[in-house]
Formats: sequence, C-alpha cells, structure tokens
Amino acid sequence: MKKGIWIMVTLIIVFSILCLVRKTRKEIIKTPKKVLQLNYNKYSFYKEEYQNRYENYKIKFPELKTKDIVLRVNMGLDHGFYTETSETKEFSILMLVNKYHYVSSDFVPDNLVLVSEYAKDDMYLNQECAYAFIKMAKDAEIDGYNIRAISTYRTIEYQENLYNNYVKSDGIEKADTYSARPGYSEHHTGLAIDVDNRVLSYNNFENTKEFTWMMENAYKYGFILRYPKDSTITGYIYEPWHFRYVGIEVATYIHEHNITFEEYYYEFLDK
Ligand code: DAL
Ligand code: ZN
Repeated sequence: MKKGIWIMVTLIIVFSILCLVRKTRKEIIKTPKKVLQLNYNKYSFYKEEYQNRYENYKIKFPELKTKDIVLRVNMGLDHGFYTETSETKEFSILMLVNKYHYVSSDFVPDNLVLVSEYAKDDMYLNQECAYAFIKMAKDAEIDGYNIRAISTYRTIEYQENLYNNYVKSDGIEKADTYSARPGYSEHHTGLAIDVDNRVLSYNNFENTKEFTWMMENAYKYGFILRYPKDSTITGYIYEPWHFRYVGIEVATYIHEHNITFEEYYYEFLDK
C-alpha cells in the first residue's frame, strides 16, 4: 500500500516537472528578442557589433521596420545629434555632411567655379554641380520658371557667423533645427544650393510654381530636396529651398523611392 502511494507521488512529481519544462521551452521560442536577432542580419549593411543598439532602438520605436532600425542605428540616430561625430575627409559628389559628419576647418571642396548666371550675386559651386544647375535653370526658364541661386558654397567662417547670429536671436535649441553648426553644413561642399524665384523670399519658395517644377524635375539634373517635410532623420526642419547635387543616377533613385540622402548613403555607400 505504502509503496503504491510512493509510486503515485513520484509519477505526479515527474509529470509536473515535464509540464514545467515544456511551458518554459514554449516561452523561450515565443520571446520576440530571438526572432528579431534573426532578422537584423539579413541586410548587407547589418553590423554585428551594433546588435544591442538595434535591440534597444526597437524597444524605443517598436513601430519601425527592421530595415529602418538597422539603417537608423547605423546613421547614429540612437545617439543625440552632434554627440558622436566624425570627419568627412574625401571630397566626392556623394560625400555626407550632416549632424554626425563634419569637414575639417581647412577643408576646401574640389573644383569650385564662379557662378554668376542664375545667381543673386557672384557665387561658388563645385563645377559639375554648377553646370547641372545652370542647365536646369535654363530649361526651367524656357518653360517660364525662374530659378535663382541665393546661397551656395559657404566657408566655415561664414557659417560660424550665421549660426552664432541665429543662436543669439533664437537660442541654441531652435537654431539647431534650421542652421548647421560651422563645419557641419552641406554648403561647405559646394554641392548645396538655396534657391528662390526672384520674386518671393526663399522661405516662401514652397508656394511658388517654381517649387512644383523643381519637385517634378530637379532629379533629372541630379538634385534632391535635402531636408524633406517631417523627416525624423535629417535633424532639420523642412527646407523647400535647399537642394543638394548628387548626380542624376542617385537623385533618380532617391526621388523614386522617396527617401532621404542618409537612407541612400547608409544602404549603399557606408563601409
Ligand atoms: N540650413 C542648412 C541646414 C545649413 O545651415 O546648412
Ligand atoms: Zn541651404
């Protein structure tokens, strides 16, 4: 009789342990972390050493697609703007200058040329960019649109002055939403152009027929709208007047996929 009770008790204990092990295994399989870990590395731009950063970013922004998590962490967006920066050394029409990448104080872009046609004053631009801009402005003019450059290449000293004045009037936090700190402006590359239509101020450019024309045609000449509306990537407010030269092929890709230059850069150019 006693023996029978012991067998029963042993069987109940063994059965309970088996149930517990099964339940725990099921829970491990269900853990989302495991599933995500498998997903990140399917992208060629995945960086193994950033695995924890991807996971933390996913916790902060659960609605983002896996690809966007990988790209945004690679961009450095999980660190604050201007906190972890590095120097962009080589000149190229695809060089990246943003709140994480600056040019050195003695940086001079390649092939600057004077532009006086379709420009407010005499201004400098990279030669390839200048030719593309003049061709674009000429074609626009033939169709009855006025496109004029109002700000192109800027030295670091010029940007320093500009930025400091904005900080004086609006404070650092606000100034940082619309002005680059010296060294961090794309205007240092000779590949960025602010435009107007000769009539309205540049900050009304969005309300002009020239803006509509640019949105439909600029990529055909190699230009992209660099700071689009509501972007959580660039770190800048919408700048309908600021265009960046990247060449026709890349501009076409960016236009067709409706992405920022950062997304293009980190998918295809980052090493
Ligand atoms: N306004 C742009 C971001 C610049 O200052 O370069
Ligand atoms: Zn600009």
